[in-house]
Amino acid sequence: MVEPLPITRRRFLSSHKSLVTVFWIAAFASLFIWQSRGRGGGGGGASLYRVNGSLSSVFWWTATTTTTSSDAGEFPRLRPVSFNLTDFGAVGDGVTVNTEAFERAVYAISKLSKKGGGQLNVPPGRWLTAPFNLTSFMTLFLAEDAEILAVQDETLWPLLPPLPSYGYGREHYGPRYGSFIHGQNLKDVVVTGNNGSVNGQGVYWWKKYRSKLLNHTRGPLVQIMWSSDAVFANITLRDSPFWTLHPYDCKNVTITNMTILAPVFEAPNTDGIDPDSC
Ligand SMILES: *[C@@H]1O[C@H](CO)[C@@H](O)[C@H](O)[C@H]1NC(C)=O
Ligand SMILES: *[C@@H]1O[C@H](CO)[C@@H](O)[C@H](O)[C@H]1NC(C)=O
Ligand SMILES: *[C@@H]1O[C@H](CO)[C@@H](O)[C@H](O)[C@H]1NC(C)=O
Ligand SMILES: *[C@@H]1O[C@H](CO)[C@@H](O)[C@H](O)[C@H]1NC(C)=O
Ligand SMILES: *[C@@H]1O[C@H](CO)[C@@H](O)[C@H](O)[C@H]1NC(C)=O
Ligand SMILES: *[C@@H]1O[C@H](CO)[C@@H](O)[C@H](O)[C@H]1NC(C)=O
Ligand SMILES: *[C@@H]1O[C@H](CO)[C@@H](O)[C@H](O)[C@H]1NC(C)=O
Ligand SMILES: *[C@@H]1O[C@H](CO)[C@@H](O)[C@H](O)[C@H]1NC(C)=O
Repeated sequence: MVEPLPITRRRFLSSHKSLVTVFWIAAFASLFIWQSRGRGGGGGGASLYRVNGSLSSVFWWTATTTTTSSDAGEFPRLRPVSFNLTDFGAVGDGVTVNTEAFERAVYAISKLSKKGGGQLNVPPGRWLTAPFNLTSFMTLFLAEDAEILAVQDETLWPLLPPLPSYGYGREHYGPRYGSFIHGQNLKDVVVTGNNGSVNGQGVYWWKKYRSKLLNHTRGPLVQIMWSSDAVFANITLRDSPFWTLHPYDCKNVTITNMTILAPVFEAPNTDGIDPDSC
């Protein structure tokens, strides 16, 4: 059961002599306890949290915010130029691996930075892909019933240096698996939609982790590092290999109206949102 909760948004303004940094992380609510099927007993608990100023610690949350109604036209025009993922040869059959299509789309958008950026529309379908990077001035828009699915093969995950906040590596010493959707040193990135979803197919990772078959720290589902002006809204993130949404050392990140799902049991470390060193 998912408890519907009202949307809460707060803005916090802080200024300093030499720089004005407006930094707000807004909105998200609700730690909920989600009773998985067949585990008896009903009920979930829900409480409201507010995120503030400088957060260097890490949170263990499974968060969800849900609202009523849907549908606002399939693809609103949010950037001067927009692409359909299928323009890049993607096939949404849940089997074809579409990594190149995502990479080509992101590359095309990276060329539009001086023209207001670009929008990548993901139509209904199951779009399997290896991890890919976002670019600046990009809007990723997931239609209702669009699902971006992570390949279940860790050899396709790039290895990244350990996070500075876990200098030596967290689950294992040394490099870590990258995140499924990743971005670093970006500006103005939006990931939104009509409640389409990003599915990490984490069960693959959880099993390997528990069986000690992984040689590196698992990666988050979505991670942006050293970036500013990022918005995550109106979509569902589910079954992350590890933490779900992880902004690291970013400024002006807005997270609103997201649904984050993972089983309560046997899905280790699938925190909802982990603002880190922000
Ligand atoms: C949140 O930030 C505001 C402004 O910086 C501050 O006044 C307030 O005390 C902070 N609240 C908490 C709970 O840290
Ligand atoms: C979005 O999709 C998720 C998963 O299917 C569902 O739990 C949630 O209620 C949906 N939210 C809205 C606003 O329809
Ligand atoms: C939240 O997202 C859902 C699904 O994408 C949308 O129908 C709804 O209007 C959104 N609500 C707000 C307050 O943005
Ligand atoms: C995107 O491409 C698919 C497949 O060609 C098509 O069905 C869909 O209508 C296109 N959507 C837009 C908004 O162009
Ligand atoms: C994403 O960018 C980072 C930093 O440039 C790089 O290390 C990583 O390999 C890229 N990931 C993918 C999937 O291309
Ligand atoms: C982990 O390392 C061992 C020993 O080097 C190797 O045999 C195994 O294939 C590695 N597993 C993965 C998932 O990379
Ligand atoms: C924060 O980011 C949002 C979304 O990109 C942008 O509209 C807003 O101007 C930014 N705020 C500041 C103070 O830069
Ligand atoms: C989220 O959805 C609502 C309702 O459709 C819309 O007003 C809002 O602009 C959307 N937010 C983003 C960041 O796309």
